[in-house]
Amino acid sequence: FSDTDVAVSSTLWTIPYFLDRFYTNRISFRMLINQHTLLFGNDINPAHPKHIGSIDPNCSVAEVVTDAYETAKMVCEQYYSAAPELKIEEFNAKASQKPIQAVYVPSHLFHMLFELFKNAMRATNELHECSKEGLPLIKAKVTLGKEDLSVKISDRGGGVALRKIDRLFNYTYSTAPTPSLDSKRVPLAGFGHGLPISRLYARYFQGDLKLYSMEGVGTDAVIYLKALSSESFERLPVFNKSAWRHYQEGPGADDWSNPSKEPRDASKYKAKR
Ligand SMILES: Nc1ncnc2c1ncn2[C@@H]1O[C@H](COP(=O)(O)OP(=O)(O)O)[C@@H](O)[C@H]1O
Ligand SMILES: [Mg+2]
Repeated sequence: FSDTDVAVSSTLWTIPYFLDRFYTNRISFRMLINQHTLLFGNDINPAHPKHIGSIDPNCSVAEVVTDAYETAKMVCEQYYSAAPELKIEEFNAKASQKPIQAVYVPSHLFHMLFELFKNAMRATNELHECSKEGLPLIKAKVTLGKEDLSVKISDRGGGVALRKIDRLFNYTYSTAPTPSLDSKRVPLAGFGHGLPISRLYARYFQGDLKLYSMEGVGTDAVIYLKALSSESFERLPVFNKSAWRHYQEGPGADDWSNPSKEPRDASKYKAKR
């Protein structure tokens, strides 16, 4: 390898690391600016008088799920003739009769759910658009335990092979054509930023976002939030020696035998989209 190759490969290795940290900082200072303008501005927000800035101390998770679904459905119907229906279930392990609420920023939760619904709707439509039985439901399950408040969005859109799951979180990775910027329609997919940015939103308050897929059937996407607001503190990048090392050193050689490869006859497995 020449010096340029090493520089290029180490740059490629560091771009996602850099972007994760860059976008997390962006989420954080947008939150700070928003909080400041809402709390110290002259007007109280008439639509949400009980919100503390952008934070809802009694955020009804199922309501945000429904809002995000309805908005994604409107976008989906511009591209396909129909959108899958939604079924929501709630399991409150702390107080079974009570609806699940969180101290959270509803706009962050909406952003994550909107992205997951768009993905689930696109996968469902691509697989079942021509089927006579119609589109299978999207299921949303909201659960509350001692530590985690979780939201699972399950679709029957055909899923993704395990080997490919990690790459779905790469910035710009998309199996949809790049949307035209001139188009007046809101894009449904194609920028490849939906999953990585949504995962940053979840991680920003100590949660996470994971995909569990069964190829041939469908995908479960789970958003994990902290059940207790005292645990939901900001997670921010720190610039220290370990961070510096990330920019200096490449990924190194694989330290396991038989690194996973493309299947021999790749054309057989190529996605239809
Ligand atoms: N529920 C899903 N079922 C099947 N494939 C999915 C699902 N969610 C995401 N994907 C795949 O992951 C890719 C990246 O998703 P995303 O980051 O949201 O970007 P985009 O939606 O713009 O393509 C999608 O293009 C799609 O191939
Ligand atoms: Mg998407």
